[in-house]
Parts: sequence; structure tokens; C-alpha cells
Amino acid sequence: MKSRLLTVCLLLACASQLWAADGKVKSSDAAYILTPPAPATPRINGANVFGVRPGSPFLYTIPATGARPMEFSVQDLPAGLVVDAKTGCITGALKNKGEFVVTLHAKNSLGTTDKKFRIVVGDQMALTPPMGWNSWNCFANKVTEADVKSAADAMVKSGLVNHGWNYINVDDFWQNHRGKEGASHRQVKDAEDPTLQGAFRDVKGFIVPNSRFPDMKGMADYIHNLGLKAGLYSSPGPWTCGGCTASWQHEQQDAETYAKWGFDYLKYDWCSYSEIASGRKSKGITETPEVPVWKSGTTNPEGAIYPYRVMGKFLREQNRDIVFSLCQYGMADVWKWGGSVNGNCWRTTGDIRDNWKSMSDIGFNQDQAAPFAKPGNWNDPDMLVVGQVGWGKTHPSHLTPDEQYTHISLWCLLAAPLLIGCDMTKLDNFTLNLLCNDEVLAIDQDELGKQATCVLKDGDVRVYEKELADGGRAFGIFNLGLTSANWDLKALTQFGLTGKQHVRDLWRQKDLADVDAASGSLPLTIPAHGVVFYKLTAAK
Ligand code: GAL
Repeated sequence: MKSRLLTVCLLLACASQLWAADGKVKSSDAAYILTPPAPATPRINGANVFGVRPGSPFLYTIPATGARPMEFSVQDLPAGLVVDAKTGCITGALKNKGEFVVTLHAKNSLGTTDKKFRIVVGDQMALTPPMGWNSWNCFANKVTEADVKSAADAMVKSGLVNHGWNYINVDDFWQNHRGKEGASHRQVKDAEDPTLQGAFRDVKGFIVPNSRFPDMKGMADYIHNLGLKAGLYSSPGPWTCGGCTASWQHEQQDAETYAKWGFDYLKYDWCSYSEIASGRKSKGITETPEVPVWKSGTTNPEGAIYPYRVMGKFLREQNRDIVFSLCQYGMADVWKWGGSVNGNCWRTTGDIRDNWKSMSDIGFNQDQAAPFAKPGNWNDPDMLVVGQVGWGKTHPSHLTPDEQYTHISLWCLLAAPLLIGCDMTKLDNFTLNLLCNDEVLAIDQDELGKQATCVLKDGDVRVYEKELADGGRAFGIFNLGLTSANWDLKALTQFGLTGKQHVRDLWRQKDLADVDAASGSLPLTIPAHGVVFYKLTAAK
């Protein structure tokens, strides 16, 4: 009996071991949940500010947790907007530039709450980083309209919408495929896929979706009717990365089409534009007008900027706010000019995968772009790899639970766009705990729009600090090592803090202590590849 007990204990210890002989942190069975459940009383979550351009259709759903039914109202709502009392969805349009401070109210059988909220009518949108879902890390080249609609349904049913998640974005493969001719080795299989065969464009040159997406407008309407926003994907080159039809020489028509269908977000992925920028001729491309060159060795960034300027201009001409997401993996220091071509966010890196090396190499190397982040302009270290991910064949994320806490904490500190990349119909409690912590998400959505940088390196420990609009600071203390680390958070004056500082644990949503910035010290235990995530504010 005794020995059996010992075996069970040993097995349990193995299951939750932190690292193995191969030197990798192993996926632990202990996917421990830190986020406290949201109370049944009403609580309004999400950003404190929303930007819209004059005349554009307005759509904002008040994100609120608490028991349903809930009744919503908005005090001082400017003329032109209405709120649906049942859903909290605010719609309409605002004609003139200006700023309105409104009060959002939510009420259920257990209580009432309200929150001040700023509506800024101006030239800029995405005043806080976009939050939503994208099809790529889950469905990749297999995506269908049904997948996208069920992701939208799940966004609502899972309650994620109540925490501010709202974009539902289809990535590559809503268009027809270029076919075998000229297709790269990895595109050949898709070239034969019968669901991707058909006209690239109609006789007038307007894009034709593939048979998996029979009704793009209907799909966008479906998403909007849930109070969510819709996004899609193209490339400035003739073909997308997967080899489907893209926007080259049809940029204006495409921008108009996206607006007509009702899309709110465009990810614009460089890929085959290389052929154009370098002066090579792509199969099926007959005339290539002069464009500025961008190829290896080019130093003048104009060739890299040019195609984004073209699309950025056409998107802005639409009577619709379409968030412009540049995807060109950080070429030509995109953070320096992305905003000038009406970009709202830009990828700073290549594609992420669900392993420690990929996530940490990307996440811990974002400092050079940090000074360029601001409301409306976000550095994008790529999409989230938590939950069931797998590019067409899903599996639970290969990141350990602690690595996933690191991933979400770091992306929030980096003020990154947060795009969930998993199968939304298979959200487990651990993943929901990662995505539904309003105090953690508030760091990402902070209206000051600052991006954290690394302020201290001590062995395997990295300290990231982010300035917040309320004068507080968020601190992520990460452990890049393979075993848990004991470490002291002290001498806070080196991080620009003075006086008594109030410390709150964001994942646990718990007040910890008041420490003196000069003489105080907070002993921490940081799990292997894990994080301690705090907010510090001047103590009262
Ligand atoms: C890549 C891009 C991915 C995904 C893919 C689609 O270039 O980085 O996020 O969009 O193309 O083919």
C-alpha cells in the first residue's frame, strides 16, 4: 500500500514536473487558474476610450460581465448614436469631429454600475490595441465561412465579448487560388483544391471570393448582428502568401469592395509583393508599372513603404473605419513609418509558433519598436498561441501553462493587438482564465498607449515596465530560466518610482502590500518560464 502511494506520488510529481532531462520545460498537467470568476453583479470592462472617424458607421458593444438579463443605458450619448438597452450595442454615426465623455450604465437584478467612457471623433481609430480572433493559427488554408461564423458565435457564447474581444477576422484563403502555374512548392496542394477553383475577379475587376465564402456581405452582417466586427486579409502583391488572389493593381476596387461588404479590418500581407518590388515578373502579371524598388541591399525604405501607402490611402477614402494592419514582418523598420501610411498596427516579426523559443524570441525582443507605439499605432508581435491551435490540425498549445501566462502578460505589457488564434468552439477553462482577466487586459488596453520595455536584466530574470494613464505602472517580472527563481523586487526608485507604492497582483486580482520605493522589498517566486504580473500605484 505504502509503495503504491509512493508510486502515485511520484507519478503526480512527474506529471507536474517543471523540467526534464532534455532541458526543456515540460507541459505541466497543472494548468492552474489564477483569474477569479467575474462577479454576478454588473461590471463594465474594456477600454476607456473609442475612436471613430466623422460619418463612419459606429459600432461599439459595451463589454460587461454579470448575470443576465442586463439592461444598458448611456448618459450624455451624443445625437446620432443610440444604445440597444438589451445588448449594450451602441450604433449610429457622428458627423463632426469632437470628444464626448459619456457614462455607460449596466443594471441587473443584483445591482447597477457605471463607467466614464470617452468617444473621440477624429482622424484616428484603434485608440487602444484591437482585440479579437483571426482564423490563421487555427484553420490556416482550410478556413470556411461556417468556421468564421461559429468563431463569432463562440465569442459571444463563451462570454469573451464581455471582456472587450470583438474582431472576427478571416485570414488567407477566402479568395480563389492561383492554380498550379507559378505556385510555390508549398502551394501546390491548395492549387488542386476544388473549393479554391474559380475566377479571380469578375469582368469589371472586382474580387470574387472562393466557394467556401459564398456571401461575404452576409458573413460580415452576421458578425455585426452579434455586436462584433469583421476583418479580412489580402496582399499588395498579385497573390497572397498561400497563393490566392490578392490586390495588386486592384487596390482601389478592393478597398471599395471591403467597405461595401462591411469589413472593419484589413490585414495586408507583403508576400508576393517581393516580386513586384524587386522588378521580377510574376506569372500572370503582364504589365508592371514603375514602382520604387525594395530588395536585399536596398536602403531607401520607399520601396517597402509604397504598397502600404497605396492601400492606406484607398482605405481612408471609404466611408467606413477599416483598421489597417500591416504585415511585412518588420522590414524597413516599419514602426518608423507605419503610422504615416494610415497603418494602425504592424507586424514586427515573422510568424509565431506555439513553442517557447518562438514566443519568447519574439516577445522579449520588441524594445526597439517601443517608442513608436501610441494610440492608433501599435507594434504587432503576431497573434496569440493559446488554446487549441495548429494551422489546420489543432492540438492544445505546446506552451506550458506558465509560458502561456508569460505570453499573455507580455503581449499586454507590449500594448500588442490581441488576436486569439485558437479554435473558439473548444475553449477550455484554463484558456478562458487567460483571456478573461480584466485587470490584465486593462494593461493592454490602457489609453496612454505606451509599450513596456525591459528595464532590468538579472540573470534569467527580466523586468518589463509599462507606464499607465492613471499614473500607475505595470511590472512583468519574467523568469526565462528552466527552474523557478526566487527574486526580490526592490529599489523601485531605479524604475522611476518614489514614496509608498501600492502593489496589486493582476492575475490574482489581489492587493498585496504597500512598499517603500527606496527601502522596501518584495520577495517573489517566479515559476520556470513564468511571470509575476503586478500593478504599482502611489499608495494613498
Ligand atoms: C503569413 C502571415 C501569417 C498568415 C499567412 C497566410 O505571411 O505572416 O500570419 O497571414 O501568411 O498565408
